[in-house]
Amino acid sequence: MIRINENYLKLKASYLFADISKRVSAYVEANPDKPIIRLGIGDVTEPLPDVCVKALHQGADELSKRESFKGYGPEQGYKFLREAIAAGDYASRDCAITADEIFVSDGAKCDSANIQEIFAEDGLKLAIPDPVYPVYIDTNVMAGRTGPNVDQRYQGVTYLDCTPENNYVPAIPTEPTDLIYLCFPNNPTGAVATREQLAAWVAYAKANQSIILFDAAYVAFIRDESIPRSIYEIPGADEVAIEFRSFSKTAGFTGTRCAYTVVPKKLQAFDSTGQAHSVHALWNRRQATKFNGVSYPVQLAAAAIYSAEGQAQVKEKTDFYLENAALIRTAMTDLGFSCVGGDNAPYIWINTGRDSWEFFDLLLNKAGVVCTPGAGFGTCGEGHVRISAFNSRANVEKALKRIAEALA
Ligand code: MLT
Repeated sequence: MIRINENYLKLKASYLFADISKRVSAYVEANPDKPIIRLGIGDVTEPLPDVCVKALHQGADELSKRESFKGYGPEQGYKFLREAIAAGDYASRDCAITADEIFVSDGAKCDSANIQEIFAEDGLKLAIPDPVYPVYIDTNVMAGRTGPNVDQRYQGVTYLDCTPENNYVPAIPTEPTDLIYLCFPNNPTGAVATREQLAAWVAYAKANQSIILFDAAYVAFIRDESIPRSIYEIPGADEVAIEFRSFSKTAGFTGTRCAYTVVPKKLQAFDSTGQAHSVHALWNRRQATKFNGVSYPVQLAAAAIYSAEGQAQVKEKTDFYLENAALIRTAMTDLGFSCVGGDNAPYIWINTGRDSWEFFDLLLNKAGVVCTPGAGFGTCGEGHVRISAFNSRANVEKALKRIAEALA
């Protein structure tokens, strides 16, 4: 008799976005003549930047010829991409991150899910925001780092409440914690952290020998010049933080798949005897064993966005979604809701003042618009919904009109 990993039994039955998709499919089946508009899952709708398409063609051409054909690439990613990232995303911001500290991957979801494997399974104290991107908590539940779920919260986890009172940026815990998940610009709230707030987290992590797992997948949407683009803009962060980045939302790669994770060489974690080990070496060992890299044409396409032309095209795409976000935030504010996000992030977090699944159902059934119920991201998400700015202008405008009519 084969036994299962019983930690899976502690999880909610299905992944949030699978749950939503089930409700939406039921609605579509029952109302085939009522087209819905999806502002739920953050999936891009605009085509790839031209520079990326050209690079994909070039990559395919190279693979078609014996002289330039490539088989397995380096598990950590091709040097040309790692160097482009180090120069474009770090040297340009005065962050001392080198190409060999960058691991190219197929997604920030996979990396932020997998990273916990290299840390101890028991005795680690987790600090996890609420509301949160469900991947951070679910992967730790699967690994057995939490107790059972009681009243919507896993036992043994330090939850970092993000509420209207703290403007959705959590306070630093009063007790020590080991593995801290932070995401800015935030999914789902769209909130950003100031330099001072990030510096306080870095100081806390240093004082407690903790590690911050910093998800910066939405950094391309920051427009406020005072907001750091990377946690490594905070001095000393390379001793306490791992950073996840993605080309998904930056350059429309949700289907193409390319991302990267920075694991600085200075970062250390300890074995049970107290001896220090390089976290970089552990992650490298993990990736070399379990990952075969991202395809060559896709890495060429990702590198293309670091050209001047590529940067302009990425800015144009992200500006477009931010214009959608501004329309959504204005419309929801005009309807009397208080909202955050949308100015430096593609998500608008709306305080509905009512049950979030009920509000989700109302928008689906009366407006034919899909949003994401806040409760799906944690108990502090109750009373809120997230609306995503990823759609065409025509659909966003139509959705806002329908929402206004449904709530009239
Ligand atoms: C979201 O809607 O939260 C994101 O699309 C999920 C993801 O990036 O995996």
